Amino acid sequence: MSRLLLVSNRLPVTVKAEKEHVSVVRSAGGLATGLSGPHERSGGLWIGWPGDVSRLSSPQRAEVESQLAALRCVPLYLSPSEVARFYEGYSNRVLWPLCHYLLDRMPRHHRDWDAYAKANERFAELVARHYQPGDTIWVHDYQLMLVPGLLRERLPEARIGYFHHIPFPSSEIFQTLPHREKLLRGLLGADVVGFHTPGYAYHFSSALLRVLGLETDMDHVTHEGRIVRLGSFPMGIDAESFERLAHDPGVLGEVSVIQERSDGQRLLLGIDRLDYTKGIPRRLLAVQRLLEREPAWRGRLRLVQVAVPSRTQVEDYAAYRDKVDELVGRINGQYGTVHNVPVHYLYRSFNERQLVGLYRAADVMLVTPIRDGMNLVAKEFCAARPDEDGVLILSEFAGAATELRDAVIVNPYDIDGMADAIEHALEMPVEERRRRMRALRAQVKSRDVHWWVSHFLDTLQSVPQRSTKPGAA
Ligand code: G6P
Repeated sequence: MSRLLLVSNRLPVTVKAEKEHVSVVRSAGGLATGLSGPHERSGGLWIGWPGDVSRLSSPQRAEVESQLAALRCVPLYLSPSEVARFYEGYSNRVLWPLCHYLLDRMPRHHRDWDAYAKANERFAELVARHYQPGDTIWVHDYQLMLVPGLLRERLPEARIGYFHHIPFPSSEIFQTLPHREKLLRGLLGADVVGFHTPGYAYHFSSALLRVLGLETDMDHVTHEGRIVRLGSFPMGIDAESFERLAHDPGVLGEVSVIQERSDGQRLLLGIDRLDYTKGIPRRLLAVQRLLEREPAWRGRLRLVQVAVPSRTQVEDYAAYRDKVDELVGRINGQYGTVHNVPVHYLYRSFNERQLVGLYRAADVMLVTPIRDGMNLVAKEFCAARPDEDGVLILSEFAGAATELRDAVIVNPYDIDGMADAIEHALEMPVEERRRRMRALRAQVKSRDVHWWVSHFLDTLQSVPQRSTKPGAA
């Protein structure tokens, strides 16, 4: 097995500092779990940003480095200006809204482009420094779109993969970006460029044609004498671990407590990073519409909405938080009683055990983003339901909707339609709930994160490499 060099903006760790003591804790996220096996087995490295460590003393920093090294992680420290301009600026104020079709959220001037390009150079430099002949490099996500090209210049013979974790928008949208050409050329430095859905891969091909005049031949494009494979690799979750937690006696105890205290109210659940792509206001409006239209549901249902704080330094996220806060207050003010409120809103992060408790207790899970690359919460919910109950309501604009066809699929722009779907889910007969959940679970379990990793890496290994030896074609 070739050594795997993983590259992502964030390392899959959290650095925790309490007084003098510091510790580096491995993240529980899907990417970290799926890749930890191949990463360790291949004796590879994971290169990325460990988060903000600027407040740590030098001895603490040395301790962090040694703990990172033990996890085979190589830190790339971002300066405060890089955080502001590369991460918050170009990555999250330009590329993030663009890829989610939200052109109005992009700034008029792309002043942070040079910071993005320079940070990508730093990543590529560090990877090249650690590269050994025969290594396989796998670059992740939109923060690092120039890295494959920069690596190709430095390491012409390397095997390089790139996976785009967010939507790749229609070429009509992508073309609005002043730096479209450089970004596309950056991605073409890879041997395999992967997306969650065939739709995103198709959008990428048409951007190649319209921006660079490059024609895709079935699943590949030839660029500078090299074959670049394009494909869809829908990401999965560690389904087994969610299922195991769903059987855990402690978690089941928590589920009983949630159910007992619900006082007969049906439980709707939403779990999202607090991000303007997640469609939380529209979801709240759909609940409000149902209560307005059908007085019989008042006092008989509640939505538990978990919103995990995210990118709080970016203005649009702060404004979005205000909007959600206000809407929750308005709905609770209107339909709450002295005994209960229709929206139970929690602005904080939860650990996996707590999440599984909520998933298992819910009658209806609402995953209704206005645009989402995949959405793993939808898959986690299904994995956490070995009781084969619970209804998943899923936006047609989440990548997961291409796979999870047995969910109740909704258009988040249609508030009345969503209110209908919630009511339909609440009234769905048990046989139908079981039939749908069984099919969803089969899908989530067979296409899990381990399948995703092997599918991508096998494809990457199968791409013929260009030899740079003299005389070779
Ligand atoms: C999305 C992106 C990831 C990103 C994550 C959390 O899932 O695809 O690349 O790491 O959000 O966002 P953050 O900005 O906190 O890394």
